[in-house]
This record gives sequence, structure tokens and C-alpha cells, in this order.
Amino acid sequence: MSNEETLSVLLLGSGAREHAMAEAISRSSLLGQLMVAPGNAGTAAWNVELDASSNLKIVDFCVHHGIDLVIVGPEAPLVDGVADDLALVGINCFGPSAGAAKLEGSKAFAREFAARHNIPGPVVRTFREVEPALAWLDEFNKPVVVKADGLAAGKGVIVPESRVDTERAIFAFLAEHSMGEAGEVILLEQRLVGEEVSLFGISDGVTLVPLISAQDHKRVGEGNTGLNTGGMGAFAPVPRVTPELEAELTEIFLRRAIDGMAAEGQPYVGVLYAGIMLTDDGPRLVEYNCRFGDPEAQAIVSLMESDLLEVLHAATTHSLADVPIKLKPGTAAAITIAAEGYPTDPRMGIPVPVVDEPDGVRVFHAATRMDGDQLVSTGGRVLSVVGTGADLAQALDRAYSVVDKITGDGLFARSDIGWRHAPRPAKKKSAYAEAGVSFDAGLAAHNRLAQAVKTTHDHRVIAGHGSFGGVFDVSALTRLKSPLLVASTDGVGTKTLLTREMGRWEDCGADIVNHCINDVLVQGARPLFFLDSLGSAVLEPEIVGRIVDGMAAACREAECVLLGGETAEMPDMFNAGSVDVIGTMVGYVDRPKLLPTDAIAPGHKLVGLASSGLHTNGYSLARKVFSGMDLTEPLPGGTGESIGDALLAVHRSYLKPLSAALEAGLVDGMAHITGGGFVDNIPRVLPPGCGAVIDTSTWRRPVLFNYLISRSGMTDDEAHRVLNCGVGMVVVVAPDQVDELQASIPEPTWVIGEVTLGRSVSLK
Ligand code: GLY
Repeated sequence: MSNEETLSVLLLGSGAREHAMAEAISRSSLLGQLMVAPGNAGTAAWNVELDASSNLKIVDFCVHHGIDLVIVGPEAPLVDGVADDLALVGINCFGPSAGAAKLEGSKAFAREFAARHNIPGPVVRTFREVEPALAWLDEFNKPVVVKADGLAAGKGVIVPESRVDTERAIFAFLAEHSMGEAGEVILLEQRLVGEEVSLFGISDGVTLVPLISAQDHKRVGEGNTGLNTGGMGAFAPVPRVTPELEAELTEIFLRRAIDGMAAEGQPYVGVLYAGIMLTDDGPRLVEYNCRFGDPEAQAIVSLMESDLLEVLHAATTHSLADVPIKLKPGTAAAITIAAEGYPTDPRMGIPVPVVDEPDGVRVFHAATRMDGDQLVSTGGRVLSVVGTGADLAQALDRAYSVVDKITGDGLFARSDIGWRHAPRPAKKKSAYAEAGVSFDAGLAAHNRLAQAVKTTHDHRVIAGHGSFGGVFDVSALTRLKSPLLVASTDGVGTKTLLTREMGRWEDCGADIVNHCINDVLVQGARPLFFLDSLGSAVLEPEIVGRIVDGMAAACREAECVLLGGETAEMPDMFNAGSVDVIGTMVGYVDRPKLLPTDAIAPGHKLVGLASSGLHTNGYSLARKVFSGMDLTEPLPGGTGESIGDALLAVHRSYLKPLSAALEAGLVDGMAHITGGGFVDNIPRVLPPGCGAVIDTSTWRRPVLFNYLISRSGMTDDEAHRVLNCGVGMVVVVAPDQVDELQASIPEPTWVIGEVTLGRSVSLK
């Protein structure tokens, strides 16, 4: 110590975690002097000039300023060996040695360590090359998480929503070196499903003092959607972690690790933070971190009754057993206030309001600095508002009472922190609502729409909903020989009038996405992203939300992104109640796989796949035929389904059933049977001088079409010229590959005709 009683302390870091720790330390009776580097506007009273990214400079500073104890907030200096360097000059460091910090610094090391010490985790494999990773993925055939082995500032973990995204992540790390050295080795880990909790303990190398459980919310968007962040909000303790469960988790994930580290000659000094998934098969290790979490620390420190400095100092002097650690009863919740654009491209220099802190609320600074008299943002996570209370609901209530005064004008927060255990208290009614105007309904629909859109987003979306134009990263396409973009626009048309009658708005969202998927698929392309446009006399937020929900679900199913959209309210253009739903799909294909191929010749066969119904054609006719009928009545001659069900069956996508055939190169051309039936659509893929003959007896025409034809008085021939008549997609295939093609499609198909010499399509 610098004198008999007190300590000179240097705290490293610049987040809200460090602001919270600095305040707690500043209250310690053991403190002589506190210095923080680099700090933020909240720690201004203690900030010192020091390049905290250089261990050499840190050691030099400590020696020259008589520092007794260095407390390290973030992981990077620890993984870089700052504790080892300080030990060489006899200065205590709260935080593990580089060898022990490998628990966070190398995910592969952590998994191997866990396996050695009987700490349960997911199935995991490490890879340095793309091919073996893809081969294992095929063999494992379950959803995985892709992780860079090294530290990657929160960007090294990708939770892909699909196989395609998994491949993209593998490719980005191992082939494009998107994370540099940190991603030279990757881990493919079984995706754990359950409730994730964090458990914190402090160790002096031998003694372990369990602290508390906490729960973070890592995704940027409401409802756990969007990109991963450092943390949008956390609370402690977690109601689900009962004292019994906490004891069990402490034994398995903290005690075994501390003992294991000691046994391996790397005694662990500092905070050990275990991320744990509570799965149906028991708790599993998600990851270890070698420091306090941010924002978890803000909540935990706010509950500390013991002298924080005394505890941290005891850990570095191997005397933790002598210092009782006491936490206050109750709960603390820390809500992150982030800058617009976070986590990809946070806007800098946003003015940050300074507000009063009522009892039970404290605002900690993160990326802030003073610009003259004005507090401004300097990064993504700007503030962390902590509420403490008797329980989670009260803690959240208090925190949000202040959060709501700060957000807006470039700053945002998730409004659903703690959703699992204490849903957000309802907001007070606005003046609009008092006046009977459903402002909240509009806002709720907008939020819901934004959420739905975000569920389709991944790391390729640079700018989406709310931007002037969607921005989509296509760099992964550079691995193709000659990438081509294929785009198609279409609309649902008058089907939406029936949709309104039946209230099936989600279905028409799926209709337009699937329609457009099929339109790019016939050129051999896979969908990349979709843009929508909704027009109406008066836009009803609930309806817009439901249509977009349907679009988002169809996009997720097709593993493509709903990049953005537009809504237009035009009372002079539309009849009341009608909604125009249109969209554009952009897909990609490698030029050698572009369809149709030039192999198509007379003798090629036409193989039909079933439609799910009218798809998005023939509704003017259908509305006339069924006019005045009760759509909930059974379809005449059908097998019990209602007229409405038959008419509104969602336009199906042929992406999945045809994937294997396309992959195997069995397809020479495809025609999506939309308006114009067989007669107009099949010639679009035939070479000049070729026509086709279709034998309409080769498949059974569904009852709906028979009913429409008989009631409308049209001839069979006419029907096949305007409707799909039960065949929604026609594949053109070489005669010797018909069997293989049919075997590759996991549903019944029919050889409905063949390519002939001539120009047109004839029916027989
Ligand atoms: N809140 C997550 C972390 O600090 O890693």
C-alpha cells in the first residue's frame, strides 16, 4: 500500500461497467487515490492520460505513480498479459494471467478445458479450413453457432438462422478472413436451446466466492431480434435461478473451473463469468469470460453492500476467505441506451440529455464525452441506466422511468428487458389516446413491423428498414465464378379482396414473397432479399403488421432477407378497404447455372409440380363465381375444406422441392404457371422454333378448378390458357434424366408433356 491504510488504484476501461465500478471504489475506506484510463465523461473526476492499449505504458505508469492495485475492466488487456507484466514489477492486478484468461481469449481452449474438467457443453468441433467444416456440418445436420476462436470485440459469434447463413459465416471467417487472426480457427457448436443465464464468482486462485446470477439481452431488437451486441440490458439476480440451482451451477461451472485452473498450474484470480444455457438436457456451458459483464456489472455493483475495493484487493492478495461478501436484497436492472445505428455503425456526436436521477436510479456513462458544455456520444453503447428495487418489476419500472426521458433523437433502448420474468410495465396513455386516436396502435404496429423485418436480417444487411435504400452486402457472392443478380416484381392483385373477407392478412404477405421466389427460381436463382410496397386508401396498422409478419415468415422459410418496404395511404386512388400488395425479389445465380440452358430441344420432357390452389391468378373470375356464397361453407365436391380455405391457399414456393434437382444440374428450364396458364408461360423458356404439347389427362385437376370451370362456363381449353389447373411449376428436363429428376423431388410429380417443333403450346 502507498501508505499504511490506503491503496492507490488504477482502473482500466471506458464503459458503463467501469463507471459503476469507479463509483463503488471511490466510496471505499481503503482508497487512497483512484485513477481511471481511458474512462469516459462519467469518470471524468478520476480520468488520467494513459494509453491503456499498451501494457508497457500501463506498467510504466503504475511504477511512476505508485499504483498498488490495477483493476482491469475489459478482457483484451488480460488476454494480452497485463496481469503477468504487472506481476513482474510486483504490482497486484485484479484479473487473471494471460494463461488463465485463455478461458475467454481462446474459445477452443475453453472447450478443451471444459471437457478435461467435466464441465458440460454443446457438441463442438474446431476447423481451420472451409471444406472439412462443411463436411462436418453435413454429417452433424443440426443448427450450429459459428464462433471465431479469438477475441473479436463481440463480433466473433454468429448465430445463423439457416444452413446458407451458416456456410456464409464459415466462409467469411475462414476464406474472407473477416475477423483476421481471431477467426483463423473457428468453432462449430451445437446450437443450445433454452434460457441463458450468467453466473459470476470471484476467486483469489483458491477460494471461490460465488456472487450472483444475471441475465443479459444481447440482441439489438425487441423480442430478441437483430444483431448481437455487447448487451442491451441485464438484471440480477435471475428469478429462475433458485438458491439450489445457483449452488448446482456454481459447483459445475465455477468451482470445477477454478479448481481445474489451479490443477493446471494457472491459478485464476479475478471475476469468472460463466454463460450457461439451461437446456432440457441440463445446464450447458455457453462460454467463459474473464471479467465482469457489461451491462451485468452495473446491476451487480449496484447491489454490492460490501466494500468492492476490499473484495477485489483481497482476491489479489489471496485472502478472499477472510472477506465476507454481502449483497443487498432485491434486484437491479441495467438498461443500455445506444446510439442510432448500433451495433454496425453507431452515429457519433449525438447530444445526450442529462436528467435527474430519482431514488433507486443511477445513470452510468459509457461512450460519452463533453463537447464544451454538451454531453455527446462517442460510440454505440452510450449510457446504462440502473434501477434497483424490491423485485425485478420495480427495478425495471424505476430504470425505464429515466430511460424514457433520454431516448429519442438518435438514442434508443430496448423496451422489453426482463421480458421473461417481468414484462415491461404498460406506458401511460398519451394525449392522443385520451382523445380516442390510436397513436399507440400505430406505434405498436410500427414496432411489430420493424421486429418482423429484423427477424429476417443477418450480418449482410448494412441498412434496412427506415433507410432511404436497403443496403445489402453481396461480397460472399464473389466465391461464385460469375455471379448474376436476378430480380422480379409482382403483385397479389385482387386476391386481397378475398383476403380481407377472410381476415387472412399474413397469407397474402406469404403469397407475394413466394410468387416472387418462384419468378427468380425459374432462372436458376436463389432469393437474396425482398422489398415490399403496400398501398391502401387508409392504412390500418394492424393489417400492415400482419401482412409484413407473413412476408417475414416466408422470407425466413426461404432463407432470404426482408430488406425494406414502403407503405402509401392514397384515399383518392383506392376503394375503401382494398389493399395493394406488391413486392420485388432479388436473387443470385452463378452464370453457368442460369436457366433456361441452351440444351432444350424437341423431345425434352415437361414435368409438372402441384400448385396449392389458384396461387395469385384468376381471382376476378373466382370472385364472380363464388359471389354471394358463404366462404366458410364446404367447397362443393371437395373433401371438406371450406371455399375460403381452397381459394386463399397460400401461393406455394418451389424453392425447397426443387433444390436438389437444381443442385444436381437436372433442370434445363422451368416455367412458373401464373397468369396466362400453360400457353403463355411455357414458351418463355423454350428456344425459338420450339413449342410444346401438354396432355391434360396426365394429372388430376383439383376440385376447385373443376368447379370454377363448370360454373363460369369456360372450356377446358380456355381454362388451361388462364389458370394453373393444379400444376404451378413445370420443369423442362432431358428425356434420359426424367427419372432422376422425379426421384430428386420429394413429392408426386407428373410428366405432363414434351417439347416439340413449332411455336406454341397445344393441349390434348
Ligand atoms: N454482457 C456480455 C458481456 O459482457 O460479455
